[in-house]
Amino acid sequence: MAEESDVLVIFGITGDLAKVMTFGSLYRLERRGKLNCPIIGVAADDWTMEDLRVHALSAIKGTGVEVDDTVFDRLMNRFSYISGDFLADETYTRIAAAMPEAKCPAFYLEIPPSLFGRVVQHLAGAGLTTNARVIVEKPFGHDLASAKALNDELHQYITEEQLYRIDHFLGKMPVEDILYLRFGNQMLEPVWNREHVQCVEITMAENFGVADRGSFYDPVGCLRDVVQNHLLQVLSMVAMEPPAGEGTDIINDRKRDVFMAMPQADPGHYVRGQYEGYLDVTGVAPDSTTETYCALRLTIENWRWHGVPFFIRAGKSLPERVTEVRVIFHRPPPLPIASAKSQHPAPNELVMRIDPAPGAQVRLAAKAADGGGFREIHMDMEFADEGGDGPTPYEELLSAAMAGNKDNFADQDAVEETWRIVQPLLDSPPPVIPYAPDTWGPGEADRLTKAYGGWREPWLGP
Ligand code: BG6
Repeated sequence: MAEESDVLVIFGITGDLAKVMTFGSLYRLERRGKLNCPIIGVAADDWTMEDLRVHALSAIKGTGVEVDDTVFDRLMNRFSYISGDFLADETYTRIAAAMPEAKCPAFYLEIPPSLFGRVVQHLAGAGLTTNARVIVEKPFGHDLASAKALNDELHQYITEEQLYRIDHFLGKMPVEDILYLRFGNQMLEPVWNREHVQCVEITMAENFGVADRGSFYDPVGCLRDVVQNHLLQVLSMVAMEPPAGEGTDIINDRKRDVFMAMPQADPGHYVRGQYEGYLDVTGVAPDSTTETYCALRLTIENWRWHGVPFFIRAGKSLPERVTEVRVIFHRPPPLPIASAKSQHPAPNELVMRIDPAPGAQVRLAAKAADGGGFREIHMDMEFADEGGDGPTPYEELLSAAMAGNKDNFADQDAVEETWRIVQPLLDSPPPVIPYAPDTWGPGEADRLTKAYGGWREPWLGP
């Protein structure tokens, strides 16, 4: 068993991510009795503890949680606040003085990635990194070269084992569920390969635009924002071999095998779109060619998946908010005894829905009541007890990091391999095609999946 962290130090506690995610997650962890250590917030703002308290309360309420005063007081009693410049030695002297007994500190950096290296350098300089964990937010690099450079920079001061790279999709229960469904069901694993699967479609649709994040989003775009990280992680869970044995790196090693078997993406199978109205968003360059939608085809060259395309599409301002993985099996042969008008059943499909309501759907062929041919029937299962008040991704990930469990964090191989895979798309992007908001993106994306029956309409509703 790994040692529990005995102090949590959060850099950037006054920032936006802390407001939207961190305070709410810490509150929920406190409510579940999962917090056991002091918390030190660090930021440049000249705040008193009272300022922090007022801010924390409104941030927690803002996440829709009904605040219980006792739980909130317990949480705030853990907190202290250090106001200081992230690049000044003196700040780290004060941090060290605030945690004299700490044996296994966790430093959570929710600050611009350009500061990661220098903050960790200062932590090391102050003697704080021995036996420490360092948790960093995305993005981890903006291409292969910058991701490698950041890894090299951080590894001067801490080992890979000490580094926890957050990808909040890995804290989503239905993403973990992919492994449990695959490897807990005898009826699934034997057909989970090229013999039986014709293609896999992964869709991440959001029915809202970039809103007030224009200046963050415009230099990034859809491919970097959600494909290189979240959706390739999801793909690796769908495609990996069963993890055998126990240990910190087992799952990440199996994912690495998948990524290493993936050729670089081909820009000829890549479509970019931009929703109409994006250029008017504050912070977006007036002539921006950033994609708010992308669709691509990837392959995995190994025994299990050779010849099976993995299609990914993601976008903002689409008609629905839904993230799903759809495994489409080969089409069975026609059945001569069925009525002539529908002798040929549609391919079976297994849908694993990640958002908004986690669930699974199996699409099978059955006899049509009217004429003796085939019709499609759907077996739907919602994992209802994982919705509602189940742990949020940040609760999962923060408590895992403090417990020293690295299963659900992106490791160096994953980060570098995924950048390698998408790099040709960054180097030779096709032009962006405009699309109307509330549509499924540019029609051009249909050519990618045409030979496989097109993009399936995502599974919505119960
Ligand atoms: C973030 C992206 O990483 O993930 C956002 O920066 C995106 O653009 C978000 O909207 C989606 O996360 P979730 O958990 O709301 O599906």
